[in-house]
Amino acid sequence: MKILVTGGLGFIGSHTVVELQQKGFDVIIIDNLSNAGIEVLEGITAITGIAPEFEKLDLKNKVDVSDFFSRHSDIGGVIHFAASKAVGESVENPLLYYENNINTLVYVLQELSNKDNANFIFSSSCTVYGQADTLPITESAPVKPAESPYGNTKQIGEEIIRDTCHINNHLQAIALRYFNPIGSHPTAHIGELPIGVPQNLVPFITQTAIGMREQLAVFGNDYPTEDGTCIRDYIHVVDLAKAHVVALERLINKNNTENYEVFNLGTGTGSSVMEVIESFERVSGKKLNYRITDRRPGDVIAAYADTTKANKVLGWKAKSTLDDAMASAWKWEQKIRN
Ligand code: WQD
Repeated sequence: MKILVTGGLGFIGSHTVVELQQKGFDVIIIDNLSNAGIEVLEGITAITGIAPEFEKLDLKNKVDVSDFFSRHSDIGGVIHFAASKAVGESVENPLLYYENNINTLVYVLQELSNKDNANFIFSSSCTVYGQADTLPITESAPVKPAESPYGNTKQIGEEIIRDTCHINNHLQAIALRYFNPIGSHPTAHIGELPIGVPQNLVPFITQTAIGMREQLAVFGNDYPTEDGTCIRDYIHVVDLAKAHVVALERLINKNNTENYEVFNLGTGTGSSVMEVIESFERVSGKKLNYRITDRRPGDVIAAYADTTKANKVLGWKAKSTLDDAMASAWKWEQKIRN
């Protein structure tokens, strides 16, 4: 059985390809290389010893998507990562996000809807919860009006999949709502490669420490939290990747109880920005240069997962600690900059 991984050269996609190959799956990657370099293929191969099949293809091109599926009738599952994911960019250019994140999803689902049996894993995000009323956040927490077009594309994407599964019981789907993915593969052959100035905390920390950035700006320390900084659930990207394989196997083995299921993927532990900085300083032995600045618009105060459903139903649990993840991120940063 061959598994299609769209956006498979990206940060979470590439780590998931490694885990799929190490579980014995044949993988074919589609990526348009808009946010990832072809050299990631070498990184994956260096880890697993198996070069995944790869096709450069833009899923916005409906004809190309249809042609791909007609040439690969042996695809037994799809893990769909391909999407734009920068919150700030989505506010400035919403149509780019609606075209790239929604049209592509529709075209892939249209192809899967023609198959007798299709297994589909969707890359979603805890951003759908906005500022949850109750912490930790369970999958039954209400989906709040999105704070950004990016977040809205995840909400709309889930609704599109839910509606499609409702009328097509040949389509089995799971949406995985990620909390904050961080870190890199322990071999440092693959990792996070943000293009331009990193929007996310951890790559900004490691780029500051390596000397690429002058200083980290901590976006506010006047929040109603213990140390005044925002709290998030930082999950090691390898733990997250492993969850995708477990979810896919749930569908392949027909262990799912409904043909559309949702799981939160986090550690269940919240960490503040200051705690992340302290973790970095602990594992790297370096003092981080940072200053406190104003809050960033759109930031929620706190978000961390209730992992009961993923632990009990999916049979998956994050194993790595914050220090493990920060150490892997630092190892990767040092490798790619030297
Ligand atoms: C984490 C914390 C910032 C940068 C976003 C998306 C989410 C997912 C992960 C794609 C916040 C603070 C950050 C900096 C800082 N993306 N921070 N200085 O915003 O929780 O989630 O990325 O799937 O969908 O919403 O992650 O890493 O940007 O911020 O102080 O230079 O770090 O204020 O409290 P976020 P983040």
